[in-house]
Amino acid sequence: MQDTFTDREQLYQMILDTQREGVNVIDINGNIIYANKSSAIYAHADQEGMIGKHITEYYPRAVLLQVLKSKGPVRDFKTVHDDGRTFIVNAFPLFSAGNFAGGVATFRDITEIEELSRQLETLEMELAFSQVEDVFENFVGKGDSLEGVLEKAQRCIAAIGGPRHSVITGETGTGKTMLAKAMYYFAVKNGIVRPNAPFIEVNCGQFTNADIAAMEIFGTDKGAFTGAAEKPGLVELANGGVLFLDEAHSLVQHQTMLLKLIESGMVRRIGGRKDREVELIVIAASSKNLKKEFVPELYQRLAQYQIELPPLAKRSLGEKQALFDHFVIQYCERVRIRQNLILNVRFTEQSKEIILNAHYERNVRQFRDVINASIDAAAPLVNKLSRQLSEINVVVHPNNIPVTIIDEEPVKASQVDGMIQELAEKGFGARKIATKLQSMGYAIEYYHVAYKLKRLRNSG
Ligand SMILES: Nc1ncnc2c1ncn2[C@@H]1O[C@H](COP(=O)(O)OP(=O)(O)O)[C@@H](O)[C@H]1O
Ligand SMILES: [Mg+2]
Repeated sequence: MQDTFTDREQLYQMILDTQREGVNVIDINGNIIYANKSSAIYAHADQEGMIGKHITEYYPRAVLLQVLKSKGPVRDFKTVHDDGRTFIVNAFPLFSAGNFAGGVATFRDITEIEELSRQLETLEMELAFSQVEDVFENFVGKGDSLEGVLEKAQRCIAAIGGPRHSVITGETGTGKTMLAKAMYYFAVKNGIVRPNAPFIEVNCGQFTNADIAAMEIFGTDKGAFTGAAEKPGLVELANGGVLFLDEAHSLVQHQTMLLKLIESGMVRRIGGRKDREVELIVIAASSKNLKKEFVPELYQRLAQYQIELPPLAKRSLGEKQALFDHFVIQYCERVRIRQNLILNVRFTEQSKEIILNAHYERNVRQFRDVINASIDAAAPLVNKLSRQLSEINVVVHPNNIPVTIIDEEPVKASQVDGMIQELAEKGFGARKIATKLQSMGYAIEYYHVAYKLKRLRNSG
């Protein structure tokens, strides 16, 4: 057979461009030599235009930067892109005639898988709650920063005057969903709602527009629009149980309907004429200050109990220690169930210190993920385990900690930003600024400075 692809390079490019995985190749200075089509799509960039630019212009937290430093591979590394999507990256050094020549990375968008794992997290939470006597027992910090919070949560559900609606605020990953779930189980276990009462969770931020949100939440009747079906909304499905409105600030356009529901216990489907009675406990959660987002009447009715979850940074070192131990035990427990293996984990002093003192923008969730990833990195893979073993010891060292998923400390970061700006105003270029900051003891690379300068210019 004749090979019609005489141009091999073109053939390889075509193959690479058909892959769903992104591919980036850089030289020793971090400049892009090649990026495939998927990579350009992920970066919202023009594929040709990426060539010759520094990788950080498109991937500010590129794992390839680690390869440039270590000249070694990085495998199965989870990283969060600036737009919030999560990637799994494999990156390797490249050599030409025996000399280090750059690196190649392949990466996959796992945002949807992450969403599934979030749902799994909820199921795991449910399982944990259904098995314990005291649903608040699972909360680390129950005798500490969460003491008042948990007491309020119980009173809100079990007040003898009847359960109340509530508002839970707190940054992402501080435990809002966990608390709402616990309140529901608390209501079930105390006979405040029936044993199989619904817990309906609505992520109000997920709807592409307000009309769709309203139809999902309040339901539709035949008169809503031509061809509209008669469909109960989530409010009706939650009848007799708990309606958990997550990211409730996204509902600003439906405040009147929400107010009516809460005031009168009545709901009218979109396009309908009939009011239907529902009885439910509304828990509204938000990472924003709902008092500022909602009209006062609505806020007042909803926030009969205002529960505020503190960010991780505000919790005591002792509590962080307890959370740390909790997540390590949880990891070992999973290994015991999955592998029938006793896992003993020890963190070196230094690695524990790094983890406890880092700043976590995504709070408890990120703290947990960092601990899990560190143990992952220190432990042998499943296929490397000997069958005879019934117990293994793992020591976590600082190099096992996935540094790029720990955020820069905000204070230090803004200090550095300030200095960069100052030096840039004096006419210094990125390289000079980097050298200067390095001489002052800051671990900052040229490309970080270049990236920050670019951002400063764009914002100013
Ligand atoms: N006080 C706590 N004790 C134990 N685990 C916690 C605590 N707070 C949060 N978590 C865990 O952290 C993760 C994120 O919590 P979640 O309730 O989903 O946060 P949010 O809804 O505020 O984003 C969950 O896996 C949860 O079980
Ligand atoms: Mg949540």
